[in-house]
Amino acid sequence: MKTKCFRQEEIKKAAELIQEGKLVAFPTETVYGLGADATNPEAVKKVYQAKGRPSDNPLIVHVSSIEMVETYATSISPIAYQLMTHFWPGPLTLIFPTHPERPLSKVVTGGLDTVAFRMPDNDITLQLIKESATPLVGPSANTSGKPSPTTAQHVLHDLDGRIDGVIDGGRCQIGIESTVVDMTQQDVITILRPGMITQDQLMEQTNVPVVFDTHLVEKDVAPKAPGMKYQHYSPETPVMMVDGGSHEWDRAIHTFHAQGKKVGLLLNKQSQKELAETSDRYYELSETRDIFQATAHLFDGLRYLDSEGDLDIILVETYPEENEGVGFMNRLKKAANHQWFCMNGEGFDGNVLQ
Ligand code: TXA
Ligand code: MG
Repeated sequence: MKTKCFRQEEIKKAAELIQEGKLVAFPTETVYGLGADATNPEAVKKVYQAKGRPSDNPLIVHVSSIEMVETYATSISPIAYQLMTHFWPGPLTLIFPTHPERPLSKVVTGGLDTVAFRMPDNDITLQLIKESATPLVGPSANTSGKPSPTTAQHVLHDLDGRIDGVIDGGRCQIGIESTVVDMTQQDVITILRPGMITQDQLMEQTNVPVVFDTHLVEKDVAPKAPGMKYQHYSPETPVMMVDGGSHEWDRAIHTFHAQGKKVGLLLNKQSQKELAETSDRYYELSETRDIFQATAHLFDGLRYLDSEGDLDIILVETYPEENEGVGFMNRLKKAANHQWFCMNGEGFDGNVLQ
């Protein structure tokens, strides 16, 4: 199959492919999604195949209006309307019970009787949904397990020849996937996947308790979002987290050099300038320690450092696990398989969310 790269002016052509049951990747403010008609089970099956995604991992349905949600979901509370009105279009996904008379296929929901919705903040993709006249499933447009794509080039790197098209909308601004919240319980909102919309922002808007799914806080608890249990965001090269200032970084780099290892660095520019050894391959996570910039560059940096395939280890700077840092650290810990550098050079499991 030849994968067509569409320009922004060619949305109509891309929409025709969607209507024919084909797969077209689209840009969003978070990461690129792999689009297919959510009402066409055969098309949705192809999404799982192209990504190599486990079939029990449900997909997010991307909409261009709240009416599209009302068509396929039920029990939408006033609080949920408030969240959709305030945060949409934007990086928030809400989960509702499926509509008893108009359910989307079990292929979309991974066999669950709930379904996830999001309105992406991207004019190209909102237009694509409207032109297609149907909601679109849109898992991140990467091979399952790899870092999510934040450019059309990343999409082609993973899926060229496996999908029908990709619309190039440039670089995604946010860089990690949306915050996913479970809206199926009364009087409590549960965050199943942290993202740029924070716990505090959700509480401010709603005045109801907002909690994290227990598996995000405790070990050995099965996640409620099936996707969170799979290995994720991992480049081929092992990743390790470094928590601390330039002293700790120097020690980490020195330790691996002494073992004859080739090191890649993903940290802020200011700290990189202060390192004792400066010969390692480096990708700028942010200029100063800015969590928004760092989040936008995390997946891109992991892909860049992985691309030559000659590094033994990628060392990544950590951020405080609070507010916007929660989403960043959730992705980084998974990419690093929870390995932190500590003084004796061995990793330990640092998967504790305060
Ligand atoms: O920002 C995003 O959300 C991106 C862009 C493309 O919109 N999409 C994305 O989709 O990240 P995906 O499929 O890679 O992640 C969907 C997550 C998975 O962790 C999945 O298990 C969870 O949402 N999910 C979807 N439907 C669910 C449901 N009914 N119940 C629980 N979790 C659900
Ligand atoms: Mg994904």
